[in-house]
Amino acid sequence: MRQAFPLDALTLDRAQDESLHRQLYRALSALIKDRVLPPGAGLPSTRALAADLGVARNTVVAAYDQLITEGYLLNRCGARPVVVDLPVGAATFARSASTSAGRGLSLRGEVIMSQPVHHGVPGQFAFHPGMPDARSFPFNVWSRLLARRANFAGETLFGTYHVAGLPALRKAVAVYLRTARGVRCTADQIVITTGAQAAFDLLARLLLDPGDCVWMEEPGYFGAQSAFVAAGAKLAPLRVGLDGWQMDQPPHSARLFFVTPACQHPLGVTMRMEQRLRLLEIAEHSNAWVIEDDFDGEYRFQGQPIPAMQGSDQSGRVIYVGTFAKILFPALRLGFMVLPPELHERIPHALSTTGQFAPLLLQAALADFITEGHMTRHLKRMRRIYAARRQRFHELTEMNLGGRLTLISREAGIQVVALLREGLDDRRVAEEARRLGINVLPLSKHYRHGHPEQGLVLGYAACDESQTEHGLRKLREAIDRSAE
Ligand SMILES: Cc1ncc(COP(=O)(O)O)c(C=O)c1O
Repeated sequence: MRQAFPLDALTLDRAQDESLHRQLYRALSALIKDRVLPPGAGLPSTRALAADLGVARNTVVAAYDQLITEGYLLNRCGARPVVVDLPVGAATFARSASTSAGRGLSLRGEVIMSQPVHHGVPGQFAFHPGMPDARSFPFNVWSRLLARRANFAGETLFGTYHVAGLPALRKAVAVYLRTARGVRCTADQIVITTGAQAAFDLLARLLLDPGDCVWMEEPGYFGAQSAFVAAGAKLAPLRVGLDGWQMDQPPHSARLFFVTPACQHPLGVTMRMEQRLRLLEIAEHSNAWVIEDDFDGEYRFQGQPIPAMQGSDQSGRVIYVGTFAKILFPALRLGFMVLPPELHERIPHALSTTGQFAPLLLQAALADFITEGHMTRHLKRMRRIYAARRQRFHELTEMNLGGRLTLISREAGIQVVALLREGLDDRRVAEEARRLGINVLPLSKHYRHGHPEQGLVLGYAACDESQTEHGLRKLREAIDRSAE
């Protein structure tokens, strides 16, 4: 029998004018009409679905009642409602119009389409979370290196010989990670990917079966969450607050843990050594894989960068994932994984199957960029620039927006979190901000369970002082509009 759509993958948007129960009703009726929820499928209890979606139980009760009244669901007196067998012609217009020959998406396709995404708008620097400063990147050096490699220089860059990555880049990355991030690795363990997201997607597909449990940070990185949910996994929340990770109630049988220990996404806290060792101990006990996402561990503004957790792993279960999106720029689409011995010989085969391997020309230019010292020079310069911008961003926010939001001041990362004054809805604020040309993320978008904190994730790194001042003025307007 066809597996039922995982309803906890649905996303409801508090920023919309439409009520949550109405949104849920519409989403469920479409899934029923399209037979994604097949006839006879039982729906979760109102309590369970409310907990999964992080909404009040009444919201689910109201949506179910409407579906029962309209004949989509059959109420079974105390038991969970089941889907009614509707005539095939009931399939929604949206589905048949959007797909050729009306065959529709697979169940996995539907899940992928229901995941949250976030794209910026070109030229809108304020306050795109996690965006580095494009104008400070040494494009003159970069274009010279690219041009040099673009001239045919032998077979190496011509065919698809190096599926796991260009040897020169794998070696350069291994040397960098050993010296700068405390990762224990050889070049053989490095696999170059088309960004961190491609690594999460590949790992999810290779390591998870439908129904497997992932212990995932909450609030957490929704890009990684989406990759796991798209692979059919269930997420159990690993709660994170300003005082660290709450590990006292691990799920019974998680197959994978996902953490950002050097600079938690989005809160920016750092995992203390005793918590790292505790996490590794729990992982060993559960026989789980651990993905360590070190997306911007380089940007630490007090003291030295904190070494990676991978360096403390004694049992070969940590898969370290990194990206060049923050050190260089996001559109480069280059990242890497450091694989434990059990996996690294098998990955090239998987990459050949998925076709996700990274362009060799870019890899060659990047290898030169690292080995000729341009990357460390650039990083050093950007650390100085970002430290000053961060300081100024705090001062200006305090001056212009104090009382409306409170910055959670942390020492790492190129984005910060601000908690909103009581009574403000962060999705509404983000929507108003977007209308005014300001790109911020609602903090609540990083939660999948329970009651989210209301706040904003703000990238400060790409803005100079006048853009920051302008952005903050607009943000204040957005907050005030959303409070009306
Ligand atoms: C927590 C986290 N991990 C990883 C990434 C990088 O992903 P990618 O290399 O796919 O751009 C991001 C990007 O914003 C991020 O916020």
